Parts: sequence; structure tokens; C-alpha cells
Amino acid sequence: MKESPKLLKNIAILISGTGSNMEAIINDTQKYDHPGNVKFVLSNRYDALGLLKAKKLGIKTFVIPVNKTYSLENFEEKLLKLLMKEKIDLVCLAGFMKVLSEKFLANFKGDILNIHPSILPSLKGLKTHKRILEKKSTTHGATVHKVIPELDTGKILGQTTIKIKKGDTPEKLANNLIKKEHYLYVKVIRNIMAGKNKIIQID
Ligand code: GRF
Repeated sequence: MKESPKLLKNIAILISGTGSNMEAIINDTQKYDHPGNVKFVLSNRYDALGLLKAKKLGIKTFVIPVNKTYSLENFEEKLLKLLMKEKIDLVCLAGFMKVLSEKFLANFKGDILNIHPSILPSLKGLKTHKRILEKKSTTHGATVHKVIPELDTGKILGQTTIKIKKGDTPEKLANNLIKKEHYLYVKVIRNIMAGKNKIIQID
């Protein structure tokens, strides 16, 4: 049996799409020895596939749209209220495709983590699988880092690598990397919840 929910740290996960990292995090937190509990999953898109997965796993979900009618500012105000109401200690971005503002980051007192599909500081931004192939590099990878206002730049908490093989395409790289992303993200979450500073390296 897990600890009483009162003793667990509260996690919120933000997604925009598939939610495979989200699923890995929820599955891990549902193990008896995990110090955290996912209180809710929130998406900026109604059609995010991850919302269905979260519901199946028994997790509460929310959507706060960001589009021509609803601004990011509105999203952040509502999100902040929800984070406070649910007493969230840790926010995990998992394929969340909006850039949170400096104001929001200053207002939320817990940690915010993100997983990015490159070996940071190399290849910040989008389309990293295509760009690593263009660089003719032999190694690709992913990074979990703290979120700060500058995109993909916060303190690195863990990294994982994969070898690039002849004939690899952006799709093949994404498929190979995602399994290792899941493994990395859950390890980093356990690490920071245990108050450990060690950077996780998974090769
Ligand atoms: C992952 O590759 C992650 O590194 C990036 O977006 C993708 C999300 O995939 N930030 P999923 O939604 O977790 O399956």
C-alpha cells in the first residue's frame, strides 16, 4: 500500500499531445514505494490523446484552451489557481507545447521540470530528431531540466543517449529515444523528490 496521500508530494503533469511520458510518470507514481502522487493532468488542447490515457489510469484531467479566443495569460492564471488549490509541489511538462511566461514561473513556488529530446545545451527548440541527422552526429539523446524563462535552458537534472545508426530517420530516432525518455524522466522525479542533487546519466 502507498503512504497516506497526506504524506505524499503532489505532482501535476502538463501535456499537449500523446502523453507517453505522462503515462510513464503516472505508472511509476502508482508503485507503493513512490513518494509522489499525480493529482491531475492538464492540457491546453481538448484533443490531446494523453487525456484519455490519464482518465484510464484514474487521474483527474483538465483542459484550459489556448487559442485565438483564450490567451496564454488566461491559461496561466487558471493554472496557478489550480496548482494552489491542489497543493502541487512539482509540475512536470511532458510534451507540453506552450512556453510559460516569466511572470507565471516567478509566481509558482514549486519546481517545474521539462523533458526535451536532445542532449542540451545542444539543439534547443523544435525538430531535434531531424536536426541531429542534419548535423551528421553519431549520438542523440534527451534531457530533463528545470524550467526557467529561457527556453530549454534550466539546470540539467538528467540525460540519456542513443546511438544514431545508418538509415535512421527522424521517426526511427523518435521511437528509439522515447522509451529511454520514460526511463529517464521517472528516475529524475524520484531523485529530486528524495532531495538528491546527483545528475542522472543513462546510456
Ligand atoms: C517527447 O519527445 C518529449 O521529449 C518532448 O515531446 C515529446 C512528448 O512525447 N518534449 P509524449 O507526449 O510524452 O509521448
